[in-house]
Amino acid sequence: MAFVPGRDPSDRLVAGRSAYTILHNTSEVVTPDPEGCRVLRFPKGALVFRDGRVLEVGRAADLMRRHGEARPLNANGRLVTPGLVDCHTHMIFAGHRAAEFQRRLQGEDYASIAASGGGIRSTVRVTLAEHPDTLERGLANRLERWRANGCTTVEVKSGYGLMPAAELRLLELMRGAAQRVPVRVHRTALLLHALPDEYRDRRQQLVEDLCVQTLPEIRRRELGTAVDAFCDPVAFTVEECRRLLVRARELGFGVKLHADQFERTGGTRLASELGALSADHLEHASEEDWQSLARAGSVGVLLPGAALTFGQRLPAARMLRATGARVAIATDFNPGTSPAQSLLECAALASRLCGFTAEETLLAITWNAARALRVEADVGHLNPGACADAVAWECETLEELPYWLPAVRPDCVFMRGADLALPSVERRVWP
Ligand code: NIG
Ligand code: FE
Repeated sequence: MAFVPGRDPSDRLVAGRSAYTILHNTSEVVTPDPEGCRVLRFPKGALVFRDGRVLEVGRAADLMRRHGEARPLNANGRLVTPGLVDCHTHMIFAGHRAAEFQRRLQGEDYASIAASGGGIRSTVRVTLAEHPDTLERGLANRLERWRANGCTTVEVKSGYGLMPAAELRLLELMRGAAQRVPVRVHRTALLLHALPDEYRDRRQQLVEDLCVQTLPEIRRRELGTAVDAFCDPVAFTVEECRRLLVRARELGFGVKLHADQFERTGGTRLASELGALSADHLEHASEEDWQSLARAGSVGVLLPGAALTFGQRLPAARMLRATGARVAIATDFNPGTSPAQSLLECAALASRLCGFTAEETLLAITWNAARALRVEADVGHLNPGACADAVAWECETLEELPYWLPAVRPDCVFMRGADLALPSVERRVWP
């Protein structure tokens, strides 16, 4: 079926052949339960989609009998999971920082590279200079790559504009890109990322301008649903982040925080205090910090791409389990600290580095990641009523998902019940 760009692309896919379908001959269908507490497994199961939603999941023999009218689709003995959710990316930017990566390998540190004009500000310079169409198409291409890797829901943060007007421009381009591709895109305004030169020695003024002008404008123009800040000694203080995020919350945004990445400065506790959707990074978060996230119901998001880049340790699954916190895994895709383009590969690494089981790993890239975007009612699982976003993988068991490296690839990706052609990653995505 031809894809027609639109405001909510997935809605346009409901009509026609995707209306009533039964996906059968799977090796197993696996899904988080509706509460996201455990993984339900249906050996040789089937899935029934109707009008873009899941109607039923269960034993193939039963469902085939009850849904004789549905169009049968053969999964060819593959594993079927919900579409994956990448809940933390910075994928709108120009250029790359491969040379900076080499400098770091030779011993220079992130802060001193940033101080000498590299780091986030160097990506800001090339992003500002890039033609808007190129940025928009580049983002759409990246989203297609994510879909080809099994992600049907992707969060994208702004953050390489720094000046309020430049951040608004990126958020507008993100909306344009989201209309070009059949991927659910959640836009987050990352408004405190690095201090723009124009506000040097006027840090408080930047926070005030963002609170008084930028946040209401983002709201008025519906440019995003969440607001994020980088809380770290190389970026912004707990107080500065609190001021921005409290205002964002008052305006109805979900709030998120890059917390305790390079030092433990209290970002995770701030996220808990604010009832944030998520606190992300957490390389220096303590067990008490994770307990505070559990009490607040905030998701802790692990970013193995960034942790590996800096040679940092990830927390042990045993400790995380004891705290009862919800854990998600994301790519943190960005040109400086995590040029990681496959969520499943990040999950396969985290599984090894932390000691997650296959079921925990699946929860971390489906239900829990959806919760970090406040969309767990609709995506991240395949229970009746959920969006019919699913992946049939080129493997047979759930245990293979975190096992193979490079990661297993999707055979087909269903968006709202429609089996859309996947781009050939190698030929089409990078022009
Ligand atoms: O999530 N921590 C802050 N922001 C990004 C890195 C940005 C950059 O270096 O370009 C991150 O790791
Ligand atoms: Fe990040």
